[in-house]
Amino acid sequence: SIPVFDSIAAFREWRRDMLRQNKTVGFVPTMGALHEGHLGLVKTAKQECDAVVVSIFVNPAQFAPHEDLDQYPRTFDSDYASLVESKACSAILLPKISEMYPAGITLDRNQQRGAFVEVQGLSHQMEGIPRPHFFRGVATVVTKLFNIVQPERAYFGQKDAQQCVVIRAMIRDLLLPITMRAIPTAREADGMALSSRNRYLTPEMRKISTLLYKAITAAKEKVQNGASSRDEILEPAYKVIQQVKDEVQAQGAPFEIRLDYLSLVDVATLAEVETLEKDQAAVLSGAVYVGTTRLIDNVLINTN
Ligand code: PAJ
Repeated sequence: SIPVFDSIAAFREWRRDMLRQNKTVGFVPTMGALHEGHLGLVKTAKQECDAVVVSIFVNPAQFAPHEDLDQYPRTFDSDYASLVESKACSAILLPKISEMYPAGITLDRNQQRGAFVEVQGLSHQMEGIPRPHFFRGVATVVTKLFNIVQPERAYFGQKDAQQCVVIRAMIRDLLLPITMRAIPTAREADGMALSSRNRYLTPEMRKISTLLYKAITAAKEKVQNGASSRDEILEPAYKVIQQVKDEVQAQGAPFEIRLDYLSLVDVATLAEVETLEKDQAAVLSGAVYVGTTRLIDNVLINTN
């Protein structure tokens, strides 16, 4: 069995015990509804650290009033079972909203009180355009969790590429003594990135939901074949999305596909790239609505 801490004070005692035993601690923050993507992070952490802490906390501060905070899947029993089965998790942190946000938390950003962490320059493009509050909520909760867990190493998924860039900058700028690890995206056999939100998809939706991965992969191929202008690179991606969108419509499916955005940015600055330099490391990413479910995915370019 794995100890589950819903009290921060009790967790801190466990953490002091690890320190006394000279054990290094790896940390995997999650919002639960665990799948093989999360478990991959936990297993990697276990290979690199003596003890691994997984937190499960659906963080209100990163949801907007119109988003799926209430609907977000909460599946503690099966999460617990998967963590036991992974044999890689040493403790589960399940903090209460009241302890995480002592000043209270409301989804209305203008009414919020208390301390927040903002990573300027990296939080308001890409995922930060439709969700201007999102990375402030993420950076804030991750800071709080870091202060509780005090890990040597923290593990994040490349699936959320901008989140990795934001957290890496936050660790650097706030001088946090933590090594950040970004782990490659775990995918289904057909390429679809694993995500807790995939469970919102009907089988019919799931079947065509590989369109985003196909689109960004087509664009990446274009780079590998020597293309360097943004329009040239993204053209096949737009085409894939349009094709599937048209097919779905022609079949009279009971849902629609809507492209939110496709982007090509420099991996360090997240600035949109007009002309990709030779060997310039970049992220090709996008977001697509399948029905009301918003899917995101990305692939890296010129990183190794
Ligand atoms: P959540 O969406 O639960 O994801 C937890 C971690 O799992 C993140 O680092 C995410 O990038 C990683 N992850 C998700 N799907 C993955 C996949 N298919 N392959 C590899 N890694 C994957 O991201 C969050 O929670 C929150 O924003 C959080 C960091 C916990 C702050 O609230």
